[in-house]
Amino acid sequence: MKKIIVDNLKYRYPSAQELALKGISLEIEKGQFIGVIGPNGAGKSTLCQALVGLVPHFYHGAYGGSVVVGGLEVLKSEISALALKVGLVFQNPFTQVTGAKLTVYDEVAFGLENMGLDRAEMIERIDRALTLLDIYRYKDRNPFDLSGGQMQRLAIASIIAMKPQIIVLDEPTSQLDPQGSEEVFRAVDKLKSEGMTLVMVEHKIEKIAEYADKVALLSGGELVDFDRPIRVFSRPDLERFGVAAPVYTRICRDLKIKDEKTGLYPITLEGAVAAVGSLE
Ligand SMILES: Nc1ncnc2c1ncn2[C@@H]1O[C@H](COP(=O)(O)OP(=O)(O)O)[C@@H](O)[C@H]1O
Ligand SMILES: [Mg+2]
Repeated sequence: MKKIIVDNLKYRYPSAQELALKGISLEIEKGQFIGVIGPNGAGKSTLCQALVGLVPHFYHGAYGGSVVVGGLEVLKSEISALALKVGLVFQNPFTQVTGAKLTVYDEVAFGLENMGLDRAEMIERIDRALTLLDIYRYKDRNPFDLSGGQMQRLAIASIIAMKPQIIVLDEPTSQLDPQGSEEVFRAVDKLKSEGMTLVMVEHKIEKIAEYADKVALLSGGELVDFDRPIRVFSRPDLERFGVAAPVYTRICRDLKIKDEKTGLYPITLEGAVAAVGSLE
């Protein structure tokens, strides 16, 4: 089942001369984890905003083509309706916490308050979200007393409690220390195993190589490639797009060790070990 269908999406911000997205088309199946990579200014964040409807409903500007998310055509849907289908996690966890609530528990409840849920349903959703993100034990803490990684997981939990089918994450680990990043990746992996559809902009290429089903490579507002990680990361011209291949790919390339089956350079440690093992 297709969860996201982007068809020839073109978009220009109101103040801009140039298109930020120049005719993007891609389809994402239910349960897929899509990594989005590319240099600064490629259009990654704009694409994220287009998937949740902030482009064009909040930013306005010139819009062409179509985006269908969870069965809703973005252009014809209210942001509030879209929010029930697709949630967006931003870079900075600090700005996502409302500041209106004194505990982690109430922070997650806050997002549900306007949904007209009965009390039992609310409690069930909050408990499930906090447990899934592994922050249930912090439920009585002040959100601002959490570490960056914990706070980002709280932001994700607040979205999960609304039960969207799709989560879009725009560089969710870029402001976190290595431990916080690892916590977020583990959480995202768990969401994937729950059957959620995930779109994640991320510069930590090794993580994308490990987790993503497909990689979207953007550059200059265009979709350069949309394929399995091993295909995208073994492109000889990858660095031209400001993206360094995963460290295992670079080592194997230097040593000319290819995967026996695909004839491509491995992208993960596991893949590299297997390729070396098949040399004998
Ligand atoms: N709010 C905005 N108003 C005008 N132009 C913008 C705005 N946000 C981004 N842009 C422009 O759109 C292009 C794509 O930006 P963005 O989607 O943020 O790229 P990325 O996330 O890949 O770094 C860039 O040229 C950027 O300058
Ligand atoms: Mg960005």
